[in-house]
Amino acid sequence: MNVVLGISGGIAAYKAPDLVRRLRERGANVQIVMTASAEEFVTSTALQAVSGKPIRSNLWDKEAEAAMSHIELARWADVVVIAPATAEVMARIVSGGAPDLLTTICLATEAPIALAPAMNHVMWGNAATQANREVLEKRGIHILGPGIGSQACGETGAGRMLEPDAIAAAVFSLGGGKGESLLDGRKVVITAGPTREAIDPVRYITNRSSGKMGYALASAAAAQGAKVVLISGPVSVPAPPGIEVVDVESAEQMYEATHTAIVDADIFIAAAAVADYRPATVVKQKIKKKSDAMSIELVRCPDILASVAEMESSPFTVGFAAETENVIEYARGKLENKKLDMIVANRVGDNFGFDRDDNTATALWHDGQKSFPTCSKIDLSRELIELVAQHFYAVRSADTQPRLTAISNSD
Ligand code: CTP
Repeated sequence: MNVVLGISGGIAAYKAPDLVRRLRERGANVQIVMTASAEEFVTSTALQAVSGKPIRSNLWDKEAEAAMSHIELARWADVVVIAPATAEVMARIVSGGAPDLLTTICLATEAPIALAPAMNHVMWGNAATQANREVLEKRGIHILGPGIGSQACGETGAGRMLEPDAIAAAVFSLGGGKGESLLDGRKVVITAGPTREAIDPVRYITNRSSGKMGYALASAAAAQGAKVVLISGPVSVPAPPGIEVVDVESAEQMYEATHTAIVDADIFIAAAAVADYRPATVVKQKIKKKSDAMSIELVRCPDILASVAEMESSPFTVGFAAETENVIEYARGKLENKKLDMIVANRVGDNFGFDRDDNTATALWHDGQKSFPTCSKIDLSRELIELVAQHFYAVRSADTQPRLTAISNSD
């Protein structure tokens, strides 16, 4: 896949060499185009070294074919991504102005364009920037993030550039899985986030879950060329581009949506924290407090994962086991009881698992297991998807995927 990586002048440009590395690791050819102000934050020498290609920044490049860099690169690109994208570069693209090579390519290309904004949170929240974001999205330009968190300026808020691996995953899903992909032509259904079980119109029972793991798995599967359906409980994680997201609230709704999507699926990954019980009845009006104690009768919710695993022609089925103790033992029990192909066990509780960007996990299958060191949920997802693909082909269709031989088996 050919990627034009535009770098504009923001402090997050220091992450650009890492982004180039992530794109190249996945097999992309990367041509970097820098704006003049980007050079203030990252050197073209470093970028040339990691991309293996001379950096382009000049609109009037006599070396380029017919001295028209912008046309040549606009045609060459399968995806154009600008990371970081400053407020200024967003405004320039909205205006249709083309004073430099990067914005001219954006006008001249027919490839999908993605921007990963990075700026101070007040600048991101500014009405002008938000109006520009809206126009860009209406024109079909993909806005990746931004993330929320501490910023280089010392403040906290929305405006952080997404991490390089998340951007690389999005770029590959926009490129339609072009390039080396393990799951080309495969359909993967993933559940993510918590479910909410209503007590009355204003109260519900739920589980702790940010949805980050399920969303990262969806991006990683899409980056490997899969058609992904992500069935998501209520979360505040942005929808990954190019992925079909089905929003649900209750376990019952997640069950229905899963069984609708699963019909022709190859792989099912249950990363959602589904409520095990729901109130037996949903009270129509808000319950008023009357006595010092009250109780609610709960009934079991359907077990989505077990119901998929027991289908006659079930997809390759992967569950998650979030445990506070005896992690491996309990997870292995669930693998066997629910008749799964694989289970991913992770420790949760104080300082583990929830609402965090990193995770520690062990994947288990019937005759083996593999532990992953603590790493970002994005990195972990990439490795898990590779492992799932490896076992999927081994179990279901060993002879249809010759590329498997190239995967080292580190079980
Ligand atoms: N799961 C599901 N449907 C449910 C409950 C859980 O699909 N109603 C899935 C989760 O997405 C996860 C796995 O099952 O992949 C978790 O297994 P489970 O035994 O249900 O774990 P817990 O709910 O934590 O069970 P327990 O409280 O017994 O440990």
